[in-house]
Formats: sequence, C-alpha cells, structure tokens
Amino acid sequence: MNDALAALYPQHLATLRERTDTALARGGFDHLVVPAGRPITKFLDDQDYPFVTNPHFRHWLPLTDAPGSWLVYTPGEKPKLVFLQPRDYWHVVPEAPTGYWVDQFDIVVVRKPADAIAELPATLSRCAIIGDQYCNLQDVCANNPPAVVDHLHYHRAYKTPYELELMREASRRGTRGHRAAERAFRDGESELGIHLAYLTAVGQIDAELPYASIVGLNEHGAVLHYTNFDRSAPAESRSFLIDAGASASGYASDITRTYAGSKAGEFQALIDSVDAAERSFVAKVRAGQSYPDLHVHAHHALAGVLREHGFIRMSPESAVESGVSSAFFPHGLGHGIGLQVHDVGGFQASETGGTIARPEGHPYLRLTRQLEAGMVVTIEPGIYFIDMLLAELRNKPFSNDIDWVKVDAFRKYGGIRIEDDVVCTTGEPENLTRDAFALL
Ligand code: GLY
Ligand code: MN
Ligand code: MN
Repeated sequence: MNDALAALYPQHLATLRERTDTALARGGFDHLVVPAGRPITKFLDDQDYPFVTNPHFRHWLPLTDAPGSWLVYTPGEKPKLVFLQPRDYWHVVPEAPTGYWVDQFDIVVVRKPADAIAELPATLSRCAIIGDQYCNLQDVCANNPPAVVDHLHYHRAYKTPYELELMREASRRGTRGHRAAERAFRDGESELGIHLAYLTAVGQIDAELPYASIVGLNEHGAVLHYTNFDRSAPAESRSFLIDAGASASGYASDITRTYAGSKAGEFQALIDSVDAAERSFVAKVRAGQSYPDLHVHAHHALAGVLREHGFIRMSPESAVESGVSSAFFPHGLGHGIGLQVHDVGGFQASETGGTIARPEGHPYLRLTRQLEAGMVVTIEPGIYFIDMLLAELRNKPFSNDIDWVKVDAFRKYGGIRIEDDVVCTTGEPENLTRDAFALL
C-alpha cells in the first residue's frame, strides 16, 4: 500500500500545484495558505470537540491530526509545511513527519501556535487563506476568496490515482466493519453491540470515522439518520440497516447494507429487488451521464419495484409524478465523496462557479453535475416505510392505488438502503464497495 502511494503521490502533488496555480491566478493572489485548523473548545469547559483537519489541508498531505500546522504554497516554489510540535507533557505531541511525502516539502517545526505566523508570507493581502474562523491567528484570518475556492472545489471532484488508492483502502476498512456488524446482528446483539463490533473490526474510533454510523434494527431503519444506539437488543431482530464508513488518510468510504432476519423472507425478496436496481444504477455511472437524470431514472425503477412487490398498483410514471415514489424514496440517489463524505462542489456549474439547480420536486439531491472520468459518487437507492410520509399519502386521491395492508405489514422492517461508492472511468465503472467486499 505505502509503495503504491509513494509512487502515486508526486503526480497527485503536481496536479494540486497546477490547479492551485490557476486558482491563484484567477483570484489575483500570490500564495495559498491553508491552516490545518484548531480544536474547538466546549463552552465553559477545558475540553475540545473532536478535531477534524481542514479538508483543504488533507488534500495536500496525509496528516489528519496536525492541529495548528499550516501549508504554504507559492507557484514555482516547493510547498512549505509549518508543523506545530508543541512542548507539552499533557497531551501526545504529534511525531515529526515521516513517510513518502516529506521530501516534497520544506518542513519547519514550530513550538507554539503563534510562532507559525513568522513562517507565513509577510504580505497577507497577497494570500488566499482557506480555512474556518477558528483557525484565525492574530492578523492571519481566513479570507476564502470565491474565485480561488470555486476553482479548487470544482476540480476536487476529479480524483487523482493517489486519491483513488486511498479511497480503495477506506472501502476495504469499511467492508471489514460491515462483515463484523452483520455477524453481530445474526448473533442477536444490540445496536450498541453491533456498533462496537464495527469499530473494532475497522480499527477506528467514532471520531475518526467520516460520519456518524447509522445502525438500525427493525423500525429504526425508517429513520434516515438514525444515530441512537439502543443499549439492549430487541426481542426479535427482523431487519438491520447499517450505513457506516471508514477513513484512510482523511478519505472517506460511505457504505450501506440492509439484512433480513432469518424469518423475514418477504423482506429479503424486497432487499434483493432493491439490490438489483442499485446494481443497474451503478452500471450507468459513465462519463457524460447526468447525475440528476440518473436520480429521476432511479425513482421510476424503484416505483417499478414497489409495483412488482404489490405495494402500489399505479404505473411507475404516475407514482413518480404524484410524489408516491418520493414517499418511499425520500432522499437523493447519492453524492460526490472524497475528502468529505458529502464532497464539496456537487452543484457547481463550472470551475468559475454557478449553480446547477436540482430537478423540481427533488429537494434532497446533493449532486447535479454531469459525471466524468475520475469522479467518485455514491449510489444509494432506498425504499422505506416512514410513518410520517405514509400518513401524508393516506388522504390523497390516489390512496386507493396503494395496498395499505401490505404497506402496514412492512413497517416493522423499517426500510432498505443499499449504498456503494463508485468511480466513474472512461469505460466500466469501478465499484469500490463491491470490490472491497469481494476481497474479504
Ligand atoms: N451516510 C450518509 C450518506 O449516506 O449520505
Ligand atoms: Mn451516502
Ligand atoms: Mn451512507
């Protein structure tokens, strides 16, 4: 793994330099300055929230725990890392950087956060400083110039081979956790027990994961972002939805699987249909494919699944038009993924900005761009039995075209989501998730 990364890193860095050269020229700046960020302290407390490095910093360096450090890049010069290594016996002090990337940087070690200032370019007005408000240090304040940020965010969708290697690793780690979680579900564990089995198998703590894991048994599968963990197991575990990812040097995987308990044959049949539909959507991750069109296509296909299984009697077209499909599939088909689980730039019309609107009636879609080689997206269709949304359908004129007895019988399973992370290439898509499961 490290040899592969070492071989790929120089090209990754060259790509970032090239993108940044253009971004700085567009914004009229001489330097890019990227703070890693600072931990945020809890109100009235001396404890910090878990620290997450600025994704712009992680883009350049595989350093996920370097609070108070800074990256400085000036076109034509070697990038500089100002690395904070405080004199501190209360906390673990970050080790001096080592690895395949260090000889590509001028590295300066500082002992106090404020000492970084002297290592930054003297004329701050010539710097594009990309960060949040917490990283501000005396006069050094993030300015996030839109012309620079727009260029960088638009191009972040296109992953370098180095980034893809890290995303493959994030998927391998995540699928190891998913296997352990499925075993824990079959053993009748509680949601918390399943979650702990997941963390142990991945080898990461909650704060290191790219997002809060969703571990839902039975009806809990109907809560889209269910992040409670019941401490005791239900009397019967009929169904299990797990949406959980892992990190690799700051890159995310985002994986969902749904399982039926041993007595839930009717639910398994529905899972199989959603799984087949999901694979057919993955097959359409091709250069030139409009992602919003694929999302609308998924609505039609899932309405077909609902009809095939007897939940609805209307045609898929009228199910989509009337909003019935949205009651069962009330979220987007997926999103870009990379340094963040929901990667930036999903709506951006071009490298100079602009917005591509969502299709009308689809307020939760997070990606409206056309797919191109190098992009990584999730494909995550679902069918859920959500009381609130079903209640809204009850009073509608087409309610007679819904088999409520059948629908009500499935509420106890919560819902289904199947989610893979997929690389768009010049040919067949690469399914990071299924490839990683196949390696187990
Ligand atoms: N786990 C968050 C998502 O699937 O988008
Ligand atoms: Mn997702
Ligand atoms: Mn997910």
